Amino acid sequence: MKVNQSFRDVPKITTHVLQEMKLKHEKISMLTAYDYSFARILDGTGIDVILVGDSASNVMAGHSSTLPITLNEMIYHASSVVRAVRRALVVVDLPFGTYQGNSKEALNSAIRIMKESGADAVKLEGGREVLESVDRILSAGIPVMGHLGLTPQSIHKFGTYVVRATNKQEADKLVDDAHLLDNAGCFAIVLEKIPAKLGGQVTREIKIPTIGIGAGAEVDGQVLVLHDMLGITLDFSPRFLRRYHNLAEEIKGAVTSYIKDVKSTDFPNEKEQY
Ligand code: KIV
Repeated sequence: MKVNQSFRDVPKITTHVLQEMKLKHEKISMLTAYDYSFARILDGTGIDVILVGDSASNVMAGHSSTLPITLNEMIYHASSVVRAVRRALVVVDLPFGTYQGNSKEALNSAIRIMKESGADAVKLEGGREVLESVDRILSAGIPVMGHLGLTPQSIHKFGTYVVRATNKQEADKLVDDAHLLDNAGCFAIVLEKIPAKLGGQVTREIKIPTIGIGAGAEVDGQVLVLHDMLGITLDFSPRFLRRYHNLAEEIKGAVTSYIKDVKSTDFPNEKEQY
């Protein structure tokens, strides 16, 4: 796949393309985006999947967890991203409280996301406990991505963001959940912050692609939060995070120069006015 092609001639990434990538052992790249401008840049790079994650709750709104973000807010972020994207598969998180415990509400939430944002798929957290919701959403023809391991919407149940499934009981449950989601018809599963060996085991055992975030190298693809990998958010440094840039410093440098130029009346110069 050539990168930076014009919007018109790019073949769209579908869930079937991701399945073929798994079969061909071609790694899947996924990053988050929450707005039009970043999504447009990302789509032009050849990224395979753009996740409108509920991490928008932390990154965009400054909340300390993903719990407060609402369905309407997710739809706002998702529609902004969809307007920018031609090639990547756009997946949107179902926010906390819109799918757990009530499969009818889950279906309604997923339908609202698909109808009002134009996204390609939804993602939700959990295994057996959300299986009825997964089944119901899938039965409406909406592709579902699962999310196992560290599931940030359950932070109040676990009380900590430490590595998950480090003991046999939790690891067995995770493997069991992965099979359930695979057999139900999910098209991929995010595996967050689990031992690398377990990530590899799940990847080999199930038919659909696994996308890891802190799940080692033997998974089918990787995902990171865009603002973390670009160095915009600096207060979050888990071991799995590779920072590709220090954009916060670059932005500060540019803004400091702008302030200096305004104060010194260097800006605007003759050529910058009418
Ligand atoms: O919300 C999010 O950004 C996510 C990723 C961490 C996978 O779910």
